[in-house]
Amino acid sequence: MRVVFVCLGNICRSPTAEGVFARMVRDAGLADRVTIDSAGTGDWHVGELADPRTRAAAKRRGLELTHRARQFTRADFTRFDLIVVMDANNLRDVKRLDAPLSAEVRMLRSFDPEAPVDAPVPDPYSGGEAGFEEVLDLCERACAGLLEHVKSRLRA
Ligand code: 4NP
Repeated sequence: MRVVFVCLGNICRSPTAEGVFARMVRDAGLADRVTIDSAGTGDWHVGELADPRTRAAAKRRGLELTHRARQFTRADFTRFDLIVVMDANNLRDVKRLDAPLSAEVRMLRSFDPEAPVDAPVPDPYSGGEAGFEEVLDLCERACAGLLEHVKSRLRA
């Protein structure tokens, strides 16, 4: 099973989700059965490590983020089984690529049973420190649900 997280810049939200989910998958003993990556719909930060504020927040929870930003492409629809976006703009931009209907596309917080319908992971880039902590909180909650979803797809 191959999962890719997608946001706008690929330096804040999706590398965070990637790191959080990779740890959960590893702890569940499923690392050899689940491939995890992230990408951005935009190309401004390609090749860069995650934003220093994102990396600092992750590090406070024991997560080292080493991903280098890359842009999401049409080919990712066939390279991944599940495309997990952060907000409605990501969803629109991904769908605009007019991809073949193979991969499943979902908003991350749709995997959190407590989250409102269509709730986004808000972009923390232009805000303060608290926004980066919130991204981690939201990713941790939603990734727990995502793990159950992935387990059931692995069983199917
Ligand atoms: P991300 O945050 O989509 O969570 O990585 C952003 C990072 C950079 C920009 C926008 C959002 N930017 O406009 O450069």
